[in-house]
Amino acid sequence: MVDLSMYSLYSHAGGQLDRLCRAVGFDPAERRHLDLLRLLLGESGELSVSEPAQFASNVSDDTTPIEFSVAFDTTGECVIRVLGEAIGAPDPRWFLDRVAAEYGLVTDRLDAVADLFLPHDERRGPFTLWYSLIFRDGAAPKIKVYLNPQISGPTMADSLVSEGLRRLNLSAAFDPVVEHALRRGDRDNFTFFALDLDDDPLSRVKVYISHDAAESEDAEHAAALVPGADPMLIREFLAVLGGRKGPFGGRPLISSYSFVEGMADRPGNYSLYLPIRSYVPDDEVARARVHAVLAQFDFDPGQLDKALEAVSKRPLREGVGLIAHVSLRMGEFGSGITVYLSSEAYEVTPPRKRSALRALSLSR
Ligand code: TRP
Repeated sequence: MVDLSMYSLYSHAGGQLDRLCRAVGFDPAERRHLDLLRLLLGESGELSVSEPAQFASNVSDDTTPIEFSVAFDTTGECVIRVLGEAIGAPDPRWFLDRVAAEYGLVTDRLDAVADLFLPHDERRGPFTLWYSLIFRDGAAPKIKVYLNPQISGPTMADSLVSEGLRRLNLSAAFDPVVEHALRRGDRDNFTFFALDLDDDPLSRVKVYISHDAAESEDAEHAAALVPGADPMLIREFLAVLGGRKGPFGGRPLISSYSFVEGMADRPGNYSLYLPIRSYVPDDEVARARVHAVLAQFDFDPGQLDKALEAVSKRPLREGVGLIAHVSLRMGEFGSGITVYLSSEAYEVTPPRKRSALRALSLSR
């Protein structure tokens, strides 16, 4: 057994991230991914992972404040990302202020909506500000922020999103999103409002909607807002990975739409996120299903195995949730599959029982 008590959160997660970047072939001389991760974790990154976490982040099930993802794109490019919460920082924007100059971040759009989503009173709901660190081989890292539409309570969520879009010159986006993705009353809710922070005319604004107990048709209907999105792909994706057409009564399916300024009338992209860990008994079954979709979309399943090995050495069958989500994205800003991998710094969720066919075996 490896003695985990020697590991700080940073050394645990930094090792995972570094191995992940190398596994997909990134330049091993690159250091910026580690610098950014260290800064994001701050002082809390120096604490041992064998001590209980001081702050229960909702980024992941075991309260680790980061989660990795590997995005396979139809262009052949592979992108590594870290979703994270700056848990040790004096205020949620501290990390951003530290890295803005060095990474050439443009915060105009965040500043334009900050009073809506970053109120000064006490924090409500599951989070205030999350970051995504985005790494591509041979390119400068990019950073994205996630804001919480539920920050002032569920009754305010729609108006925060509507006003946020208006301030970003995307007013016309709101009604079509509601018509396509918020059709089921209390069961459909805005959960994230995300902004790219780079200086690019194609810098995106994304809105995310979670769908409690949804059917495949609900996701297909949501996808239909994006021109050219094929509902068959959604149905197959959910059938293969989720093993059903619905209802998805465990953790909710999530839809997201991407907009760029000046294109408010329709989103360029749709993504569907399946929290696969609610729909499989263990990670060995999750891996087999992800292999099947990767192959179906002509991505190399071997890349997934390398990524899994970079993040965890435990037998896949001995837990569930290493593979946390899988998403399908389609549209003019790029199409592909993304696999989200948990750090499991503090805990592994025990596997569930596999369904056995034994009872059906005919006795003679
Ligand atoms: N842990 C949260 C959840 O499972 C938030 C989250 C982390 C998430 N990574 C995600 C949501 C990827 C959607 C997709 O909901």
